[in-house]
Amino acid sequence: MSRLVVVCGGSRGVGRAVSRLLAQRGCRVAVVSRDKDKAQDTVDSLHGGEHLALSCDVSKEQEVKKTFEFIVQTCGNIWGLVNSAGINRDGLLLRSRPQDMEELLGVNLLGSMLTCRAALRSMFHTRAASIVNIGSVVGVKGNVGQCVYSASKAGLEGFTRSLAKEVASRNIRVNLLAPGFIRTDMTAGLREEALVRSVPLGRLGEPEDVAHAVLFLLESPYITGQVLLLDGGLQLAM
Ligand SMILES: NC(=O)c1ccc[n+]([C@@H]2O[C@H](COP(=O)([O-])OP(=O)(O)OC[C@H]3O[C@@H](n4cnc5c(N)ncnc54)[C@H](O)[C@@H]3O)[C@@H](O)[C@H]2O)c1
Repeated sequence: MSRLVVVCGGSRGVGRAVSRLLAQRGCRVAVVSRDKDKAQDTVDSLHGGEHLALSCDVSKEQEVKKTFEFIVQTCGNIWGLVNSAGINRDGLLLRSRPQDMEELLGVNLLGSMLTCRAALRSMFHTRAASIVNIGSVVGVKGNVGQCVYSASKAGLEGFTRSLAKEVASRNIRVNLLAPGFIRTDMTAGLREEALVRSVPLGRLGEPEDVAHAVLFLLESPYITGQVLLLDGGLQLAM
């Protein structure tokens, strides 16, 4: 039977590339996004298998609970979870509005906590499962104009390490992948030339670069509680 992986934020960008690679490698993928039609677009682009498109706002506890219950009832126990749902609201802290801060923390930090909690109920049955949270290099290094975003990603780092300790005895692994600049809708408004100048490898990352690292972390049976930077060397220059 193929392994079931839930990809939150799978409708586009990194999450879509992850969903595609997992499907190519024979996994059954449950693509979760706020917009079901967009999740379905991803599913329609996947290789073989019976994949699932679901709408869910990961920052809403009841939606997350119902979505994961539905996934388990429909497809069986969850082997993998990838938390790629995320938003940014860039701007200096003094100009940031509290409601934007709450929204950002609600999706990027609370959202991943809620989906992990919901998935663990099923993962406890399998006694071999893997979670990959998507952080950011700015959660490690900080960045001007990204105080709240970097706090959400740094929070995710502490959460990942603590949860890894909590569930290791059940053979459930939890790791965090921290990308640098990846070419997706999230970075579409930024000036590419300026970004590239700061990257030692001299190019932006592609969503597929992230997908390969996610797969590596999902499958590596003896890695847990780790933060892997995937940034073309950006942190060396920061
Ligand atoms: N693109 C980059 O340069 C970059 C760098 C570092 C980290 N990241 C992180 O990688 C992850 C993926 O980013 P991306 O570049 O693919 O962004 P993106 O904007 O292309 O995609 C984000 C996805 O998250 C989903 N999403 C947003 N809010 C949601 C919610 N409340 N509930 C459910 N789904 C929701 C969107 O529908 C979309 O599918 C994010 O966590 C982001 O913070 C991105």
